[in-house]
Amino acid sequence: MEVTRAIESRQSIRRVTQESVPRELIERILESAVHAPNHRITEPWRFHVFTGKGRGEFAKARAETARLMAEVEGDDEDLISGRVSRERKKAFRSPVVIAVISESGRDEVETLENYAACAAAVQNMQLTAHSLGLGCIWRTGPVAYHEHMRAFFGLEDDDRMVAYLYLGYPDMGERPRRRRPAAEKTVWHEE
Ligand SMILES: Cc1cc2nc3c(=O)[nH]c(=O)nc-3n(C[C@H](O)[C@H](O)[C@H](O)COP(=O)(O)O)c2cc1C
Repeated sequence: MEVTRAIESRQSIRRVTQESVPRELIERILESAVHAPNHRITEPWRFHVFTGKGRGEFAKARAETARLMAEVEGDDEDLISGRVSRERKKAFRSPVVIAVISESGRDEVETLENYAACAAAVQNMQLTAHSLGLGCIWRTGPVAYHEHMRAFFGLEDDDRMVAYLYLGYPDMGERPRRRRPAAEKTVWHEE
């Protein structure tokens, strides 16, 4: 698929089928990530791929995190078990979930730029998935950023969770794109 067409036609795919995705396609998506620009070639990205039963350990960590959050917020046991169950199910929303992590840099600027490089990597992954006829959505949220999830992924120092990329075969149609034209956000400096 031509790059500009892929950019313009890609959209977040919230609903995918449970049909498994061949490993070769997942590997192509991961390879596309590492072509992203990255300052000083720090190659800051780290990936965790959860598929099939492998999603179970991810679901467990998320459920534990939801429980911890609900307890801190003072929910009663009924509310807690609802939150825990909903969070566990999210790990199974798609046949593949790829967690993308950005490693901390040697100073604050490098850490910031590593995150920027990882964001570019995630977009490469989304565009590659789209061009392969797959759909995905980049998700985060309070659970993703929680200390318990950081410990699950072994994050240290200023390592950052960048994305949970939910990937699979689309089970929804296209929506109209909502974007202001670039012209409204642009100041031209000429001559
Ligand atoms: C850093 C980041 C975090 C995101 N987190 C979520 C999320 O938690 N839940 C969600 O539904 N979408 C999330 N998105 C996807 C956006 O909602 C989506 O890109 C936006 O609605 C525009 O739709 P499009 O991707 O189809 O153009 C996230 C996107 C980015 C860049």
